[in-house]
Amino acid sequence: MTDSATPANPVTFPPAFLWGAATSAYQIEGAVREDGRTPSIWDTFSHTPGKTAGGDTGDVAVDHYHRYRDDVEMMAGLNLQAYRFSVSWSRVQPTGRGPAVQRGLDFYRKLVDELLEKGIKPAVTLYHWDLPQELEDAGGWPERDTAYRFAEYAQIVGEALGDRVESWMTLNEPWCSAFLGYASGVHAPGRTDPAAALKAAHHLNLAHGLATKALRSVMPVRNQISLSLNTSVVRPLNPDDPADLAAARKIDDLSGGIFHGPILHGAYPETLLEATSSVTDWSCIQDGDLDTIHQPIDALGLNYYTPTLVSAADPDDKGPRADGHGASEHSPWPAADDVAFHQSPGEQTEMGWSVDPTGLHELIMRYHRDAPGLPLYITENGAAYDDKPDADGKVHDPERVAYLHGHLSAVRRAIADGADVRGYFLWSLMDNFEWAYGYEKRFGAVYVDYVSQKRTPKSSALWYARAAKAGALPD
Ligand code: NOJ
Repeated sequence: MTDSATPANPVTFPPAFLWGAATSAYQIEGAVREDGRTPSIWDTFSHTPGKTAGGDTGDVAVDHYHRYRDDVEMMAGLNLQAYRFSVSWSRVQPTGRGPAVQRGLDFYRKLVDELLEKGIKPAVTLYHWDLPQELEDAGGWPERDTAYRFAEYAQIVGEALGDRVESWMTLNEPWCSAFLGYASGVHAPGRTDPAAALKAAHHLNLAHGLATKALRSVMPVRNQISLSLNTSVVRPLNPDDPADLAAARKIDDLSGGIFHGPILHGAYPETLLEATSSVTDWSCIQDGDLDTIHQPIDALGLNYYTPTLVSAADPDDKGPRADGHGASEHSPWPAADDVAFHQSPGEQTEMGWSVDPTGLHELIMRYHRDAPGLPLYITENGAAYDDKPDADGKVHDPERVAYLHGHLSAVRRAIADGADVRGYFLWSLMDNFEWAYGYEKRFGAVYVDYVSQKRTPKSSALWYARAAKAGALPD
């Protein structure tokens, strides 16, 4: 199958394939001081001068907390069959521990009911980076206790929504939580301690395992428990150079193996433990942890945007490394001073990320091989472009249509090659708070005017709506 549809060769998906879109709590909700919610690390971080572009915060975001009914109506109008959103921990348990706040849970209950009424399948992410600030004050993810607190929170949300939500993800992109949060510091809580970042990674894995058990104890067996990983698709600059291959291997371990090793196979890669031994002795791994982490899961979520191109570093070059995850003097990659990152060739999005659908195909096929029988979902894929309304108020984004067409075609090719991909969630439903980049970068299929909060579906949203309805990519 080719990447371009022709009338004779339309890109058609299996009938049960799920067409969805995704968001996350802090990026869209706003209402940060309402109904008992207390600050998360992202409130603190975004209110710290110099941490986000233009000093942007999620205080108002796209006001989804107040507009969720209209937003669900809009999703229905766009023929979405599934919607992936996250729950804000500090709305549910303001101090990160103890009894739940009913009003916080009620918001998500109402949202889920609204979705179900419109025939849209809710997919809940429990943690999309917004740790309650009190838990960070107690040590955050480098502290083991945070994993236990997370399991308690998972159980509360599972009890509240498990009867009506079938699809659950414990964590979103734990790589970002650990390494952008605690090593490069470009994300909340903004710490720059590589040893703490590696501990955070282990405790996030532990949190996933404990939460999976907790969820299973309170919900129907038909429910599907998973998590979303953003394993890099790492490419060596020179595939014939053993040093470049070793660099690629290291980054693969640090972005993928560090999570899927224990989660899917019950062990950290030996190569990872060795490569990071100068930074940590991994004494944070306690007896029984690997069994706890290695819980059976029902599906795996993959988030993909762009591949990562690496080589062995020139030992004399000690400058900051550009790797597409935001500028910092501190690398997000512990013990990887010997790796250099390069701009991948070809067309780029507004993030400076190269457009390369072959990477998505590669990623899917890798997990198809490594986790045979595990259903896969693309839980995020999308692109930021400099979208602006025309004089007639319409927003034309042909680049995003091309991006989606290329990547969905790659998904279809992977299915044809035998991979069990059950659905696709476009990132993002609508423009929103893009973390350290603030509101500058627009990933939405729906344009948001941040002054009036008016939503305008871009041409990509209309294209995607046609695809979802037909189960096939329009020309
Ligand atoms: C991954 C994250 O999960 C999401 O929050 C973010 O907005 C997108 N990537 C785009 O950077």
